[in-house]
Amino acid sequence: MNREKAMVLLKKYNKNEALIKHALFVEGAMKYFADRKNHDSQYWGIVGLLHDIDYELYPEEHCKKSEEILKKEGVSEDLIHAVISHGWKICSDVEPKLEMEKVLYTIDELTGLIYAASLMRPDKDINNMEVKSVKKKFKSKGFAAGVNRDIILEGCKMINMEINEVIEWTIEGMKLVDTEER
Ligand SMILES: [Fe+2]
Ligand SMILES: [Fe+2]
Repeated sequence: MNREKAMVLLKKYNKNEALIKHALFVEGAMKYFADRKNHDSQYWGIVGLLHDIDYELYPEEHCKKSEEILKKEGVSEDLIHAVISHGWKICSDVEPKLEMEKVLYTIDELTGLIYAASLMRPDKDINNMEVKSVKKKFKSKGFAAGVNRDIILEGCKMINMEINEVIEWTIEGMKLVDTEER
């Protein structure tokens, strides 16, 4: 699996632009965390790209269908495990075990919060997003209410990082996404 193949796969099952954008942001964050933690950023990025592959077609069977789809597409067991584990306690009972899986678990929802926060800015630009304004939105329960803060905090514990640093790295990762595609 390389990035090109992952993109083809993603677009085979996802036509919704918002979902593709989400996949790209999660890819960016995963790549950034992998780099900072000296892991394989290409691989971590691919996991990010594919993590919600079933969501558009099977929102009610999220994660379960991903396993089926990815198996059918000949994707490796490791990658499938990583994808499914992001839904731990929500839509799967597969626990994140690897560092990569724990990072995905932590940053998935957070990218959504940061993206929503960036849209509140006059310039709507993630490049100028600051940790403290994201933190404020994080604490304001009414903002992007669908974003589960408890999961993010639990993830921070799993990866032994402070929330502020996780927010900072996630913003940096999201900046890696091509401006045309954001
Ligand atoms: Fe998901
Ligand atoms: Fe996601």
